[in-house]
Amino acid sequence: MGMTRTIIKSVGGYLPERIMTNDELATMVDTSDEWITERTGIKQRHVAAEGEFTSDLALAAAKIALQRAELDASDIDLVIIGTTTPDLTFPSTACIVQAELGMTHGAAFDLQAACSGFLYGLAIADSFIISGAYKRILVIGAETLTRLMDFKDRNTCILFGDGAGAAIVEAGEGQGEMSDRGVLYSHLRSDGRYRDLLTATGGPSSTKTIGKIHMDGREVFKHGVTNISQAIFTALKETGFSCDDVDWFVPHQANGRILEGVARKVGMAREKVVVTVGQHANTSAASVPLALNDLYESGKLERDQLVLFEAMGGGFTWGSVLARW
Ligand code: ACO
Repeated sequence: MGMTRTIIKSVGGYLPERIMTNDELATMVDTSDEWITERTGIKQRHVAAEGEFTSDLALAAAKIALQRAELDASDIDLVIIGTTTPDLTFPSTACIVQAELGMTHGAAFDLQAACSGFLYGLAIADSFIISGAYKRILVIGAETLTRLMDFKDRNTCILFGDGAGAAIVEAGEGQGEMSDRGVLYSHLRSDGRYRDLLTATGGPSSTKTIGKIHMDGREVFKHGVTNISQAIFTALKETGFSCDDVDWFVPHQANGRILEGVARKVGMAREKVVVTVGQHANTSAASVPLALNDLYESGKLERDQLVLFEAMGGGFTWGSVLARW
């Protein structure tokens, strides 16, 4: 039976110009390139320039996605930005981007799901499109995570970086079959009991400051592998696909060892896993669309291929989206 499907029409990405290598970090905290590479797979991260905000990164990624889709802002109904590092407490970064794009119609809002922000945004956009509320949505993950980092804390400052990724999704016709193009399944989860394991230590209502990232690395690692694997198994079970049917696995780039642990647990062939963590580090909500952008730019992503997205972040929040390109 015919049904509306959410087609991923285009993707774009933007990374700030400045690159901070592990060697540079080692001049700031007691660490080394060897330690960081072995434990995380990270070699470098991008850092936003002074005066360069999350909205600037988001806007740059959005413009690329619009250009690739051969659309302009007047074609977009809604802007959703997943971010933990908004320009301001309010108004939303999405409203800033909406204005910068010259959009005087439609709606815009931010979404807070930490590293799962883009995935949550994609799932919400899918629901809006299926309901008929909106026809074409700009979903962005954008972060200036380095602004939340304590460059004296070697447990956390080695892991994160800045960047933005954007996708344009729009209504398309499907048959209600798993052979349809577009989003086929999404699964969102959270469990606030674990909120203290990965947190920023400030906020407008509590400390009136933005705080710094605090993390229990070992616990996050353990829960990360378990939760992400569970989200993947759920997506496969609910859609009837196996790992072998998936052409590309586009995961949140938390760190290389979590990616390896998950790939091993779910039985995903390494060559299907898109890995950008070495160059981007963990860019939180930007990491999934930036990885998708890398895959797109590699020229390997083909129409009708099956793509499995996953993410996990502070909250904890986590989930998966399965889509046919
Ligand atoms: N450089 C050198 N030594 C370090 C560093 C560093 N940057 N950080 C910690 N160490 C030391 C510790 O002090 C400790 O020394 P000790 O034995 O003398 O006490 C030793 O290294 C081992 O520390 P552990 O914390 O046990 O190291 P571990 O092997 O667990 O690695 C890491 C730490 C990389 C953070 C790991 O726990 C991890 O990957 N956790 C997941 C965290 C993550 O991915 N977070 C991303 C955000 S969450 C998300 O996006 C899902």
